[in-house]
Amino acid sequence: MTLAEAKNRHATLVEEIRKHDHAYYVEAKPVISDFDYDRLYRELLDLEKQFPDLATPDSPSHRVGGTPLDKFKPVRHLAPMMSLDNTYSQEEVRQFVARVQKLLPHEKPEWVVEPKVDGVAINLRYEEGLFTVGATRGDGTAGDGITANLKTIRSLPLKLVGTRAMASRSRSEDAIEGIPRVMEVRGEVYFTKESFAKVNAERKSAGEELFANPRNTAAGSLKQLDPKLVAKRRLDIILYGTGHIDGGKPPQTQIELLHWLKSLGFKTPEKHWFCRSADELLRAIDELDRIRDHFAYETDGAVIKLNSIPLRDKLGVTSKAPRWGMAYKYAPDQAETKLKSVTIQVGRTGALTPVAGLEPVFLAGTTVKRATLHNEDQIRRLDVRVGDTVVIQKAGEIIPEVVRVVTEKRTGGEKTFHFPKQCPECGSKVSKGKAVEGEDEAAVLRCTNPDCPAQVRGRIEHWCSRGAMDIEGGGEVLVAQLVKSGLVHDVADLYRLKLDELANLERMGEKSARNFLDGVAASKSRDMWRVVYGLGILHVGAGVAKAIGRSYPDLDAVFAAGIDQLYETDDVGEVIADSIAQWYGDPRNRQLIDRLRKADLNFKSGLYQPAAAPGPFAGKTFVLTGTLPSMTREEATAKIEALGGKVSGSVSKKTDYVVAGEEAGSKLDKAQKLGVKIIDEKQFLKMCVG
Ligand code: IVH
Repeated sequence: MTLAEAKNRHATLVEEIRKHDHAYYVEAKPVISDFDYDRLYRELLDLEKQFPDLATPDSPSHRVGGTPLDKFKPVRHLAPMMSLDNTYSQEEVRQFVARVQKLLPHEKPEWVVEPKVDGVAINLRYEEGLFTVGATRGDGTAGDGITANLKTIRSLPLKLVGTRAMASRSRSEDAIEGIPRVMEVRGEVYFTKESFAKVNAERKSAGEELFANPRNTAAGSLKQLDPKLVAKRRLDIILYGTGHIDGGKPPQTQIELLHWLKSLGFKTPEKHWFCRSADELLRAIDELDRIRDHFAYETDGAVIKLNSIPLRDKLGVTSKAPRWGMAYKYAPDQAETKLKSVTIQVGRTGALTPVAGLEPVFLAGTTVKRATLHNEDQIRRLDVRVGDTVVIQKAGEIIPEVVRVVTEKRTGGEKTFHFPKQCPECGSKVSKGKAVEGEDEAAVLRCTNPDCPAQVRGRIEHWCSRGAMDIEGGGEVLVAQLVKSGLVHDVADLYRLKLDELANLERMGEKSARNFLDGVAASKSRDMWRVVYGLGILHVGAGVAKAIGRSYPDLDAVFAAGIDQLYETDDVGEVIADSIAQWYGDPRNRQLIDRLRKADLNFKSGLYQPAAAPGPFAGKTFVLTGTLPSMTREEATAKIEALGGKVSGSVSKKTDYVVAGEEAGSKLDKAQKLGVKIIDEKQFLKMCVG
């Protein structure tokens, strides 16, 4: 393929993928199958591998994340980024409306209500329609430049659309639809509830501390220096405002602005309300409260904005915030109760988690008796003491957490909780976890004794769990009995259990014992990824275990791979590769694998997809010339590449075959001169079949 042809094809692919990204991620109306989309994407990546100069700034190849940064560069916003005043009070909304009316006595102010997306405020800069710089709000004047991280967000347009025609029709300067030379667009980066739940499910299965809520996790994700990690998080973005605009004729009202942003390819708030009075505003706020649960993202309030942008400019700003808008915040699902105790749970990876025992209290539909205190640092930060009155909240609608102490209600009898210096289960030393960039892992204390009964129980329960080896009956109660009785010390011991040993356990009849043993026997033939996951290696969740299953034929190959090879595996980062290598570096774990092998467990991976074997055209270079009777050049190219061959744009001594169609020109002459083999489509197709 010549550079010119590659350029052409690349431009087509970029535009195709842009359309599909918009349809899928902005409109939520995909038009092609994932399979077909992946094919386009792969073609684009291959093309850029061959012609690296084609990776233009708007190429979707940036979505997978580029090279890690050393640090973020500060970026000055072209117009300052402010925030709005907050209120929880309807009365203050009325006062706000009255205040604006007083400042604009001759106007009839109109209003817009939008959901307040609970995310991280972001400023995007587009120059000549291309996304060039993205930054956090920072101090309002300058923020962190996180362009590469933002490019991984699939709903963020890398290039604005539908404008070149508009620009030429109306000479760019005076059309609302035209693209300004430079424009800042503002909005919110967030996790959908679904993506957040997925991230947490994977963390749980990998033995990692759960993230507390979507907002902080979005903020933490954007601060990762490695954009590849950000790409995996599947963040999303909604835009609702602009900053500096240079050129074009920007919209005059918020409603127009929202339509304009949408027409440029941005995702805008799910719904907005147009209002003419404080009563209408309060009704809209109320309606939003009733429906916001169904939105894909968390909302913590409603934003009230003056519709007319010229009137906003007339009102101006105070030292803190603009006078034209206000955020009404909904009271979170919180409840006050007494903290009766703090207990420490020791998980299968040894993590010590403080759990608050509470006076039962009703919160968002359920009675809550326990709440998480996350870790030692959190207890210190909140200064929580046993006997305190505390406020609890449902975090990201998942686990209730203690958010605050009601210090006014302290009586003096409260007792400071001292985080244990030893594991409460086995008395061994505890140590801080290894810091993982941008995450809270450093705050986690772990028991250092691998024989800690709590860890032993946790590992066996995890092995038996449905998501892993799926051994029926291997729940908390039986596992505790097995460990306490000394019958089982590790998962390999399960495969040596005898019926009479089991039946002798308290409350264990022969029938249950038999069922359990059947379950244990059946687990021997489970697929390899379940074994990898079941071993409970830190950071190796079910998703990662499946990815490993796709890349390695059997367990021995997994452990024979060094850190570097593991790191090259799809979905396996440095931290995971290191964790697997460290796990296998422990002689006890190697023995465990040997004992599992002797117990006749299946170590083969049914998910394994061998890398494409070198095709019949491997090492062969083809040149296409003229028009082929039944296929386009793209189709012929795809065929050659699929069989491992290369397509070149020009004939040389290195060319193996020239496929000549009708009206073949100078390439054919050259091939004849150089004695390169010339074939027609028929011969070519025959070669393809083998
Ligand atoms: S308008 C001058 N609209 O909530 C600031 N903000 O102060 C204008 N937010 O920090 C902001 N959803 O980050 C606006 N639909 C929305 C919003 C929204 C969320 C955030 C924004 C800002 C705060 C409001």
